[in-house]
Amino acid sequence: MTPSPPIAMLAELTHRCPLSCPYCSNPVELLRKETELDTMTWADAFRQAADLGVLQLHLSGGEPASRSDLVDLAAAATGAGLYTNLITSGIGLTPKRLDALEEAGIDHIQLSLQGTNAELADRVGGYRGGFDRKMKVAAEIKARGIPLTLNAVMHRHNLDDLDRTIDMAVELGARRLEVACVQFHGWALENVAMLLPTRAQTERAKRTVAQARKEYRGVLAFDFVPPDYYADYPKPCMGGWGSAGLNVTPDGTVLPCHAAQTIPHLRFANLRDAALRDIWYDDPAFNAYRGTDWLPEPCQSCDRRDVDFGGCRCQAMQLAGDAGVTDPVCRKSPQHGQVERLLHVQDRTDMTGEFRYRVLDRAPHQASESVT
Ligand code: SF4
Ligand code: FES
Repeated sequence: MTPSPPIAMLAELTHRCPLSCPYCSNPVELLRKETELDTMTWADAFRQAADLGVLQLHLSGGEPASRSDLVDLAAAATGAGLYTNLITSGIGLTPKRLDALEEAGIDHIQLSLQGTNAELADRVGGYRGGFDRKMKVAAEIKARGIPLTLNAVMHRHNLDDLDRTIDMAVELGARRLEVACVQFHGWALENVAMLLPTRAQTERAKRTVAQARKEYRGVLAFDFVPPDYYADYPKPCMGGWGSAGLNVTPDGTVLPCHAAQTIPHLRFANLRDAALRDIWYDDPAFNAYRGTDWLPEPCQSCDRRDVDFGGCRCQAMQLAGDAGVTDPVCRKSPQHGQVERLLHVQDRTDMTGEFRYRVLDRAPHQASESVT
């Protein structure tokens, strides 16, 4: 069966970023500036995406504002007819740049929040003064009326601040709050023991979100992504492999999801060598786990087969060493014990350790440093 066209494309414009969050979903081997696609190649990719059927483009990173051509890229994206969302920490967005982005027709901004106060946020982001700068940028976005989503990445160190996070989203004029518990890929996996919330924290957060959804109906919409290690069933990662979206890395590699390069037997095509349409429909990596025919048991005979598509391929790779098995988060998975072992380690970890911060050019196990 011919796959449907993708709905969304995530363009990781750069891996450069002034912050060094220990939960960053970027790969632990970050790409350098010299490898990044130039403005024209990105603009061409946006046109190809629109031709292919993509509706929403997420300009991401790293920090997309680290690209000096961000405004040109935003203009190219909106010019191609794409609904364009900027995913940013806010650092590097001056009032002048925001004016230019508005002029370029940017549709939406998604601002990350590392914590509800400067002490916590700057510690988590590994960037002193970041919180104060972010608050100024948030006020500038609000003043311009650009639709804003606050993306609160939640973990063991800030999940208990959820009430205050919700209040802040309302104060900052956000229309949507993403309560996104860290998903364990890339750098987050390096920090799993420090970041994974406790089961009690997770249950409290679920109740808080349910209550707030009622209280703020019509004012603030919520997206809640709980830590799936505590779930009975996995999430339908990416809405299914090669099904709804694709990611492009700073050097033009086209991936079915942001962590796909952790699956060692797959080879991925690059925009410099192939057309986006050909990659989407014909690339063997995109077809590797598409649909449900390939699913193993117990998924193949499970009534949730078309709900979660067997879960996340990258998580299966990480936890079971095989991207082609049932996501071990699923309670029916023969490898579910891996998740239970991880939770057992987490139970014995206190909060006084140090993060391994995201850094360029340092092996992950040398990356531990603290700004406190
Ligand atoms: Fe999903 Fe497979 Fe688990 Fe069924 S057995 S819930 S399809 S992961
Ligand atoms: Fe790759 Fe889930 S992150 S399939």
